[in-house]
Amino acid sequence: MSAVEAATYKNYIGGQWVPARSGQVMESLNPATGAVLGLVPRSGPEDVDAAVQAAARAYPGWRKVPAPRRAEILFRVAELLVRRKEDLARLMTQEMGKVLAETRGDVQEAIDMGYFIAGEGRRLHGYTAPSEMPHKAAYCVRSPLGVVGVITPWNFPMAIPSWKILPALVCGNTVVFKPASYTPLLGLKFVEIFEEAGLPAGVLNIVTGPGGAAGNALVEHPLVRVISFTGSTETGLGLAEKCGRLGKRISLEMGGKNAAIVLPDADLQLAEDALIWSAFGTTGQRCTACSRIIVHQDARKDLTERLVERARRLRLGDGLLPATEVGPVVSDAQLARVHEYVQIGQGEGARLLVGGKRVTDGDLARGNFYAPTIFDEVRPGMRIEQEEIFGPVTDLIAAGSLEEAVKIVNGTPYGLSASIFTRDVNAAMEAIADIETGIVYVNHGTIGAEVHLPFGGTKQTGNGHREGGTQVLDVFSEWKAVYIDYSGRLQRAQIDRD
Ligand code: UN1
Repeated sequence: MSAVEAATYKNYIGGQWVPARSGQVMESLNPATGAVLGLVPRSGPEDVDAAVQAAARAYPGWRKVPAPRRAEILFRVAELLVRRKEDLARLMTQEMGKVLAETRGDVQEAIDMGYFIAGEGRRLHGYTAPSEMPHKAAYCVRSPLGVVGVITPWNFPMAIPSWKILPALVCGNTVVFKPASYTPLLGLKFVEIFEEAGLPAGVLNIVTGPGGAAGNALVEHPLVRVISFTGSTETGLGLAEKCGRLGKRISLEMGGKNAAIVLPDADLQLAEDALIWSAFGTTGQRCTACSRIIVHQDARKDLTERLVERARRLRLGDGLLPATEVGPVVSDAQLARVHEYVQIGQGEGARLLVGGKRVTDGDLARGNFYAPTIFDEVRPGMRIEQEEIFGPVTDLIAAGSLEEAVKIVNGTPYGLSASIFTRDVNAAMEAIADIETGIVYVNHGTIGAEVHLPFGGTKQTGNGHREGGTQVLDVFSEWKAVYIDYSGRLQRAQIDRD
């Protein structure tokens, strides 16, 4: 398909599908083939302003819709996603490369979130509390904040937007959504579904465009009260600085350098299966990907041989083909970054066991394919052990004890996900207690979080907020404490004590 034949898409603002005011467009490309999938608006601050104004106009009406009724619309979104799952998954594989089984999982994660959040519409629990004064009632309720800005990455083009948009809407906020520049089509398809489900005009708006122009305009817009961002730590911390100055709430979900510990008593077949999936699933492009395997000396030889053998046999290719196990890296820029890290690792003295190069055999030459890569003899403190690579690269690090392994897990600036493989319940419990990450797995890799539990990390992975679970509601609502004095006289709390 050439750029001339590719379909042209529009922004959705105030219930209308409109082009960028400048008329400019940008391409969405298939990373497996280089084909142009579509042209989308290259939006600028003027488009963001129009979207925020539309969201602000829709807010007073939407916040008055009872939450269970808001939730009914979101339930219909989930139902429509179920029907479109296969089409959306196929388009997602074409737009960002991961294999069909995984893009189906991505859409499923949005479906799960839809059903979960629709249920929350009938709860949104606050609580009642006894007052310290007689004839006085006290309780607290959640209130919406206003216009929410949602900025999302390309690796989960539907799941991650769903984690933000659905809870923001059930709480009664209105939303302006800026999807990643690599996956605008999935963002637009997601918004179409909300329109079809009957969401009133202006409640959800989307502007596609580069992070610099469109994303910053959204963060800086005076009518935007909350920003929810998933992406790199560098960008996220920059946005947090801006939001700090402007007095805005921001929820950040950023990098990871996730580690798995393998003890000698572990089921090594299970560890092999789980670690191959955790390190190379989604081509390693998950913030939860396992990029460090901390293996006890006594299991080292066996595990290393198993992992290298499996990594060597993984089939790369177009994610639409049934035989493909690992799709392309999202872009040539990302591929260059992955390769640069491999060179850094070699320069630091780590031993490259498998991979470490671009793959260009046959049809693969058209796309951004990188061989699954394992480094051995990685030492704590090396750059490849500390920095997020976001590609199909994982490290083997030797440890002599559980204590040493846990120390290595905790020794990076990040704290998203970690895991331990062992049959020893005491060791597992010690690890759960001492690992400083937001998510811990036992006898499972580092990926695969479910939507009804809190998702997020410690240290530079986040800023204390969580997505998923009922905890996400705290990002998109403000607590209101209510006191009702029915004594008919002045009663002063803390003072009138008799
Ligand atoms: C991400 O990579 O940003 O737990 C999200 C997992 C998925 C979500 C990953 N459910 O790996």
